[in-house]
Amino acid sequence: MRQSSLVVVANRLPVDDTVAPDGAFEWRRSPGGLVSALHPILHDKPATWVGWAGGTGDAPTLPDVDGIHLHTVPLSADDVREHYEGFANATLWPLYHDAVEQPVYHRRWWEAYQRVNRRFAEAAARAAEPDAVVWVQDYHLQLVPGMLRALRPDLRIGFFLHVPFPPPELFMQLPRRAELLLGILGADLVGFQRSQAAHNFAQLANRVLKLPATDRRIAVDDRVVRIGAFPVSIDTAEMEALARRPEVVQRAQRLRRDLGDPQKVILSVDRMDYTKGIEQRLKAYSELIADGHVKVRDTVMVQVAVPSRERVEQYQILRDRVEREVGRINGEFGRVGEPAVHYLNQPFDRVELAALYRAADIMAVTPLRDGMNLVAKEYVAARVDDAGALVLSEFAGAAAEFQQAYLVNPHDLDGLKLTLMHALEASPEDVSSRMRAMRGHLRTHDIQAWATSYLNALVPGPSPAA
Ligand code: ADP
Ligand code: F6P
Repeated sequence: MRQSSLVVVANRLPVDDTVAPDGAFEWRRSPGGLVSALHPILHDKPATWVGWAGGTGDAPTLPDVDGIHLHTVPLSADDVREHYEGFANATLWPLYHDAVEQPVYHRRWWEAYQRVNRRFAEAAARAAEPDAVVWVQDYHLQLVPGMLRALRPDLRIGFFLHVPFPPPELFMQLPRRAELLLGILGADLVGFQRSQAAHNFAQLANRVLKLPATDRRIAVDDRVVRIGAFPVSIDTAEMEALARRPEVVQRAQRLRRDLGDPQKVILSVDRMDYTKGIEQRLKAYSELIADGHVKVRDTVMVQVAVPSRERVEQYQILRDRVEREVGRINGEFGRVGEPAVHYLNQPFDRVELAALYRAADIMAVTPLRDGMNLVAKEYVAARVDDAGALVLSEFAGAAAEFQQAYLVNPHDLDGLKLTLMHALEASPEDVSSRMRAMRGHLRTHDIQAWATSYLNALVPGPSPAA
């Protein structure tokens, strides 16, 4: 098996399965994301990415993407049900997002979490050359750092959590909390989106494991584990270039025409997830219509909600509720050929997404809790015309960087309505000065900067793959 000096371990591989125009099945690199971030760091020494290709049964053999070797980890139907849909997405996901839905605890799911984490750790151990750097991603794989250290003490191990890390009063609910913390502490460097998360983690290491801990360092046996905030970002240049393409500009104009040439378009783009605040946003918009503050003909809403984790019960319930509410709003306020809410429950390609961003006067990103929210950053990057108002939840990680957004507490319905009105009525000068400031920030804080700063902190000195 091929061994690399840099190994990324993530639940998903950086490829999507697509059907080509001739009907053939093919794998394509996912746009943006960590792969493009690693590209400039890799030079001529290829890295390996260990991950799940989706589906069940035998792991497919996949071609390299952009010089990165893909090592697929197989999951059985039971693994998917109990690890991915169960412990990862029905226990940890709600618990780490302020328990906005009740986390579900099943002992069987914990067994599966351990089993699958061990499989990933063993695959990473085989893929890493002596003294390699291994970078483990996200909440699906929190036991991997500890397991990997036991298998391969020579490795330099990093762990990055893309989602929030909860405060002690929530995390303490977790039945296997000590083992989980110890798993993460197998890493040399633990990265979070925000410094508050690092603080929560340090407090828990101290309270649950009785370890000496500050917000920067935790002492574990004879080692020191460093912790800190490394806010993730997007490939800003790639999104800017896409948004400038003539086909995207034309498509954006066409979208506005198809929407009936309204004065204002409010857009939201989310995975269909209860953390995203979709219901609260729909309610705010429908009350604005009912109160007479906006007219459907003048101000339309486009809600893109891409299907996600569809076999998890809480996601099925959410989808039913959202669709019922969209139906109610359109039934009550729409006219023939003139719905109030344009609801799209489907994935889109990057060209269509960029065109939607460019067509929207207001981008409403109002999650109840979100580790970062890349959609907010994509919208800012796409507004190469410095137009467009970002209404952003204070509970998204992105709010720490985008203080110039129209910030809002999405739990406060009246506040949400007021902020939407503020953005709708803002002067073009106010909108563009805010957008310019955010775009300036994003140009220097892109995904390359994120990956470089994390890897430099993990391995001080020349870049690990150079
Ligand atoms: P999360 O990680 O919780 O899904 P983010 O906002 O951080 O939330 O990332 C969502 C990603 O999914 C973004 O890159 C966004 O462009 C993409 N995305 C969202 N909706 C769609 C859609 N309908 N079609 C294709 N991609 C989408
Ligand atoms: O940001 C959290 C996250 O779980 C990512 O790890 C993942 O790529 C994204 O949301 C989509 O979720 P899923 O992999 O469950 O489709």
